[in-house]
Amino acid sequence: MKNILITGGAGFIGSHVVRLFVNNYPDYNIINLDSLTYAGNLENLKDIKDKSNYTFVKADICDYEEMERLFMGFDIDGVIHLAAESHVDRSIKDPFSFAKTNVMGTLSLLQAAKNKWRDNYNDKMFYHVSTDEVYGSLGDEGFFTEETSYDPHSPYSASKASSDHFVRAFHDTYGLPMVISNCSNNYGSYQFPEKLIPLFINNICHNKPLPVYGKGENIRDWLFVNDHARAIDVIFHKGKLGDTYNIGGFNEWKNIDLIKVIIKTVDSLLGRKKGESEKLITYVTDRAGHDFRYAIDSTKLKNELGWEPSLQFEEGIEKTVKWYLENQPWIDNVTSGDYQKYYKEMYS
Ligand code: NAD
Ligand code: DAU
Repeated sequence: MKNILITGGAGFIGSHVVRLFVNNYPDYNIINLDSLTYAGNLENLKDIKDKSNYTFVKADICDYEEMERLFMGFDIDGVIHLAAESHVDRSIKDPFSFAKTNVMGTLSLLQAAKNKWRDNYNDKMFYHVSTDEVYGSLGDEGFFTEETSYDPHSPYSASKASSDHFVRAFHDTYGLPMVISNCSNNYGSYQFPEKLIPLFINNICHNKPLPVYGKGENIRDWLFVNDHARAIDVIFHKGKLGDTYNIGGFNEWKNIDLIKVIIKTVDSLLGRKKGESEKLITYVTDRAGHDFRYAIDSTKLKNELGWEPSLQFEEGIEKTVKWYLENQPWIDNVTSGDYQKYYKEMYS
């Protein structure tokens, strides 16, 4: 039996990773560690919560002593680290909490792993899940490769870049076995409706304005979340120690074009007239420091580990919209309480 610690497993991507590992690896004990911030929700995992190879632990990765106890208590062999503050707009309002969780929290996990494993690094792995935003912003041409220099612009991406550097420093200084992946924008079920796609689906359903930052011309490279989880599985098992892998879908969309696809899909599934909800598009003040374009070159991951996205975007976005329409109670639950305050502060 291997004991695998997945941090942030109650969040969007983490819940998909936990589900994949619990279902596909019955010989692993999966320990999901999450402090259940506003973004963490155990409802995301209700289908696997009673499986015998699954344990949930509520804890804060910044609590170093608690991390040491957990690594010893569960005899941890591998870590897949996703816990983070993840929303760029929140990082602009409150950079401290991003530095705390993303930098200090990662450092506390690294130190706990090093102390637990120091006598024997064999078969151990610290996998840090990072973002393409560490590479900064592209112009009209080119892609981020694993060799692109770091150039973060938001407090969020600066905190993720810093955590990546700490992970590499633990490899170079102490020999800690590690791997990092940097992924592009994810979409799919269970994403908190502060991010573009679920926010806009929900607003279209309720005939609320769709706040498009700037002119809507920024470009993102979208990947279906289950494909990200599959990539994490492959890299965790076959990735070369000390290496970095970029994960992306070769699927770039200008925000305004993507928004029109979302509108078309929601309107059609709700039986509204074609394009009816386009009237909800509302151009608002641009995000401060808004990166223009992200585009990932994931050739290394394809050539070395054989991973490719499995889903065409049209299919993925339809599945995603349907999921949100069919899971209104989930949306209602996560948008009650504090979300209302956040929404007012952010958009009014
Ligand atoms: P999310 O915000 O949906 O989930 C984050 C999870 O971490 C939540 O369950 C939250 O409760 C937990 N968490 C936060 N602070 C914690 C702490 N101090 N201790 C323990 N748990 C804590 O985020 P996500 O979108 O699922 O992203 C997961 C990871 O993937 C992050 O590291 C993010 O940087 C990275 N990433 C995200 C994307 C994307 O498009 N969403 C793309 C590339 C990389
Ligand atoms: O690239 C990977 C990153 O993708 C992850 O590391 C982050 O955790 C994740 O949040 C995401 O960051 P973005 O800032 O790209 O995602 P977001 O959904 O917030 O915004 C996508 C684009 O849509 C971006 O150009 C900003 C724009 N936008 C967003 C919101 C929330 C709007 O125009 N209006 C909005 O209300």
